[in-house]
Amino acid sequence: MRTKKTGEPKIPTIMVVFGVTGDLMQKKITPALFNLFKNDSLPERFKVIGFARRDLSDKDFKEKIAGMFDKVVPDFLSLFGYERGFFEKKKDYIKLALRLKEIDKKWGMCSNKLFYLAVPPELYPEILKNLHSTGLSRPCGGPEEGWTRVIVEKPFGKDLKSAKFLDDLLRKLFREEQIYRIDHYLAKEMLQNILAFRFYNNLFEFVWGKKLIESVNIRLFESIGVEDRGGFYDGVGALRDVGQNHLLQMLALVTMDKPPRFTPEDIRRERAKILSTLRIPSDRDIKKYTARGQYDGYRLIKGVASDSNTETYFKVRALLNHPRWRGVPIFMESGKNLGRSVKEIEINFRHETTYKNSLIIRMEPRETITIDFWSKKPGRKMDLQKKIFTFNLRKPNRIHRTEEYEKLLSDCISDDQTLFVSSKEIEAMWRFIDPIIAGWAMGLSPLKRYKPGSLHVS
Ligand code: BG6
Repeated sequence: MRTKKTGEPKIPTIMVVFGVTGDLMQKKITPALFNLFKNDSLPERFKVIGFARRDLSDKDFKEKIAGMFDKVVPDFLSLFGYERGFFEKKKDYIKLALRLKEIDKKWGMCSNKLFYLAVPPELYPEILKNLHSTGLSRPCGGPEEGWTRVIVEKPFGKDLKSAKFLDDLLRKLFREEQIYRIDHYLAKEMLQNILAFRFYNNLFEFVWGKKLIESVNIRLFESIGVEDRGGFYDGVGALRDVGQNHLLQMLALVTMDKPPRFTPEDIRRERAKILSTLRIPSDRDIKKYTARGQYDGYRLIKGVASDSNTETYFKVRALLNHPRWRGVPIFMESGKNLGRSVKEIEINFRHETTYKNSLIIRMEPRETITIDFWSKKPGRKMDLQKKIFTFNLRKPNRIHRTEEYEKLLSDCISDDQTLFVSSKEIEAMWRFIDPIIAGWAMGLSPLKRYKPGSLHVS
């Protein structure tokens, strides 16, 4: 389905990770790199240079990486190096540039440079400005070698204004094709599968829309709480943390039109197009069709204000100004500490009686697609019973923890933007979210409470 460019992964590549001593490096980036390494999916010559404040030597850093695994693999560790630096100090970037040049000299060519910003977004402007002013953001070779790319993580801004500011800054230094904005939900196998399921099975695609679909529910229920992320989470809240990105991306995949071709450009364009049809919620919509909650005990978490009104749960209704979807309510609901982990999209079909069908695309607890249907109970009478067709995508033990980051890293290296978010999508998503956040701040929908582990928000 996807058109991959070939050959590129052969070019030597240096990945510079900013904020290398943080959580993301430990939990996602390094394990993903290890799997890519094991499967021989990294460029033949590849290096990771960590850049952070902490005073570490190359050896200390390698030991830190080794500590993330049960078994030491020397060839993998040899990929890592460390450059101490302060994000605000230009001279440290000059040192970094010299280090990269040294590696290039050893390799005898201008290598690709991938800058991964695994830091809180407040630090982006400083890092980007320094990358620019020291020339690091400029490719060193001709068009066939030595590209530079930058990966940024969510949250991309905290509202439309800050997202635009960040985008302007990025675009001063990089072209859109060089910017890779991560939303790891796009790399979830079941969500990628939506496009195959919809566009390669006419059986479904022709009933996909307001004529037959009554409503859609998109759920991201987590059994875990905010845990040790209080400092980050309290300034963000559930709607910005997962609503502005993961849930709206699920909405986009399930409602977008068929792209003319399955190329990264066309797929991204269709996602952005449908997101830009989101009806901007009015005050009345916010009052009537949004809810928010906070679980008891949230305020006691380290980093959370003792009088915090940050939501850890929300439900919002979206409508699309699109001929295919006009009038179909799409409910997005998510929360922490809800007692179970359910991630799914439920499509409810119309029926003039109570015999309705629904189709559920589920990522958790298992990757399945199920269809509820009615059948006759065996016997003399015409009694009906509800049955379920179930498709299991794969065995649960085949899924590995870092699958999404493996895809994202290797796609970025091989120049495939399909699973990355465009600035148009980001903008459209904030246009929908901003009024809700503002409405909540004005008290249009009260903050309710719920017990940790319960789904009862009241
Ligand atoms: C992250 C959010 O983007 O997504 C977390 O910051 C959330 O709060 C996580 O827990 C959910 O992702 P996944 O892949 O575990 O469903």
